[in-house]
Amino acid sequence: MQQINIVNAKDHVNEKVKIGVWLTNKRSSGKIAFLQLRDGTEFFQGVVIKNNVSEETFELAKELKQETSMWVTGVIHEDTRSKFGYEIEVEEIEVVGESHDYPITPKEHGVDFLMDHRHLWLRSSRPHAMMTIRNEVIRATYEFFNDHGFIKMDSPILTGSAPEGTTDLFHTEYFDRDAYLSQSGQLYAEAGAMAFDKVFTFGPTFRAEKSKTRRHLIEFWMIEPEMAFMHQEQSLEIQEQYIAYLVQNVIDHCASALETLGRDVDVLKKYTQLPYPRISYDEAIELLQKNDFDVEWGVDFGSPEETFLADQFDQPVFVLNYPKAIKPFYMKPHPTREDVVICADLLAPEGYGEIIGGSERATDYDYLLDQITKAGLDPKEYSWYLDLRKYGSVPHSGFGLGLERALTWIAGEDHVREAIPFPRLLNRIYP
Ligand code: 4AD
Ligand code: MG
Repeated sequence: MQQINIVNAKDHVNEKVKIGVWLTNKRSSGKIAFLQLRDGTEFFQGVVIKNNVSEETFELAKELKQETSMWVTGVIHEDTRSKFGYEIEVEEIEVVGESHDYPITPKEHGVDFLMDHRHLWLRSSRPHAMMTIRNEVIRATYEFFNDHGFIKMDSPILTGSAPEGTTDLFHTEYFDRDAYLSQSGQLYAEAGAMAFDKVFTFGPTFRAEKSKTRRHLIEFWMIEPEMAFMHQEQSLEIQEQYIAYLVQNVIDHCASALETLGRDVDVLKKYTQLPYPRISYDEAIELLQKNDFDVEWGVDFGSPEETFLADQFDQPVFVLNYPKAIKPFYMKPHPTREDVVICADLLAPEGYGEIIGGSERATDYDYLLDQITKAGLDPKEYSWYLDLRKYGSVPHSGFGLGLERALTWIAGEDHVREAIPFPRLLNRIYP
């Protein structure tokens, strides 16, 4: 008999199949038992009809406990009343692993309880839907960049450099010297762009930020494309095409997951329309001041400001050319203004804030050396990076997408912790 996965049930209607499943819930009457089943690929219902099975099988079905694992054998039927559309009429059950007093019951649980049981909670339908979307976004990311002539290049996790500032570094020992967990793969991606023209990195990044907001993780995954012979305007076009591509692929391939999460697909469809609006930092400040925000030119935006700015548009919005003083050392100075750099943050609508940070990169050796020194960094640690400006320096641009930020927005979840299987938060490194 054929062993199948639930997700493929539609190809086996009226066939007898065998599926390895766990029980998520059940209900039974004298004559029929409804088993809610999952196999990791999908969730569906098994029906056990007393008159059609042996007495032992029916008794066993009635006694099954939540998260018992088992083989079920039976015939797939269409089930037009359920969201999934198919069910199995169970003929035989073979218990594989017993389960007693599973802690996550169908009743409501608090956030901390669920986080303490994240290793089990991942089995539930909402986290399962979110991880399905995460997988799709990663798949579509590789596809997009491969289709656009990028190669994937891995950057190191253990580093001696601090591209995004020294305040939130994770320190570790590296034999007899100091090292840090990577905040960003960008500097290595720049070396890669000089070798391969267009590269992207994708890996975990670490920020020891003492922020306890719904947008901050201590460990998050970042996609960092870097492109040689490319100015910022062209980079912005790639950024918006990439975001629209991710959204479109999630719409096309994750309908069931979006429905589980209650995400309105019509809202998402708006985000596939290009171009996204662009405003300058100067305009953003004016807009905020006109609307009674207490902000002066030169400040960085917090989440109320970002939310307000994005709310003015129905789409993600690029905010261009921030003050030099609040941005990292590597950004290209503006050709006619001393006080701003050639950069952009992409702010997501619906209150999700910055999902991309990017810029054109400084190309001049002396300028960069000066910026590194002014940032309080040791030029010796960056001499390899400065070499990129010594040997055939070219205009180049890049950006970083925070995977979990983007996912939280696309999926319409409340908190970035929902977008990663095992979140590392200010007060959490368990499980
Ligand atoms: O703006 P950031 O710090 O930019 C960089 O790291 C650049 N090196 C990127 C580049 O140009 N290659 O971070 C980029 C993105 C942010 O827009 C945000 O989406 C995400 O990373 N991010 C975080 N996500 C979750 N938790 C945090 N603590 C994050 N910090 C940044
Ligand atoms: Mg940023």
